[in-house]
Amino acid sequence: MKKQMARTLTEYPVWDRTVRWFHWINVLSIIALIAIGVAIMNSKALGVTTEGKILLKTWHVYVGYVFAINLAIRLFWTFIGNRFSRWAAILPLGQKYKQQRQVYLESLKQGKPVGFAGHNPLARLMVTLLFILLTTQAVTGLVIGGTDVYMPPFGDSFKAWIAESPQTEALIQPYSKEGVDEASYKQMRDFRSPFKEIHEIVFWILSLTIILHILGVVYSELRERNGLVSAMFTGKKVFKDTPVDWDED
Ligand code: HEM
Repeated sequence: MKKQMARTLTEYPVWDRTVRWFHWINVLSIIALIAIGVAIMNSKALGVTTEGKILLKTWHVYVGYVFAINLAIRLFWTFIGNRFSRWAAILPLGQKYKQQRQVYLESLKQGKPVGFAGHNPLARLMVTLLFILLTTQAVTGLVIGGTDVYMPPFGDSFKAWIAESPQTEALIQPYSKEGVDEASYKQMRDFRSPFKEIHEIVFWILSLTIILHILGVVYSELRERNGLVSAMFTGKKVFKDTPVDWDED
């Protein structure tokens, strides 16, 4: 027998087109970046040749450009997008956030979580952390991409740094010492080292955070049944009662 619904569900438009496109391009590019990144990390064990390694890094950077440009657009959108895509609905700051967090945690304890059209207060912590980690990965990736396969935007500057003379700059190729001044090269590698280390550490943290993000979404979907997952395709969530954050200015 069908369950009788006490109240009908109402659709609320939440995620605009830019946010939805960002989300799925981000997912696809991160899957590709992790796959190629793990291959780079294990290239010795996998018996990858030097040419193969250069190719892996080059492709990692190409996908990285898609990822970084997509992220830059989303960060710009936090200033001009709809109400739910802006910083005010993301950052876990301010008096209103604290109140909403209290209301949400209390309602969770009572087993009847109140609905939020935008991110719920716990999701705001997660999304903020994700943006920080993604930005760190984009910045460190763009720097190390310039130090090893000499790709834009910093590749030419690193070549200029390590060249024996301005004339040998054009001779510099990945994994070759032709035209390279040894001492400057060592200095450049020392400069690169912390960026690479951060890139690797953030990869591990990000992998864990992505798993937590997915678990959080699945948990909320099952508990709250607001169509959280389909909303990232359609833009619309469904609620029985008006969401807590719907009528805010
Ligand atoms: C979520 C995004 C990203 C993830 C999860 C990721 C992951 C990884 C991983 C696991 C490695 C191997 C690290 C190692 O060998 O120890 C790596 C290396 C690398 N990544 Fe990323 N990456 C991301 C974004 C980017 C971006 C945006 C760029 C540049 C546009 C980039 C450029 C590089 C480069 C050049 C390397 C090679 C480092 C080396 O010389 O060994 N990455 N990445």
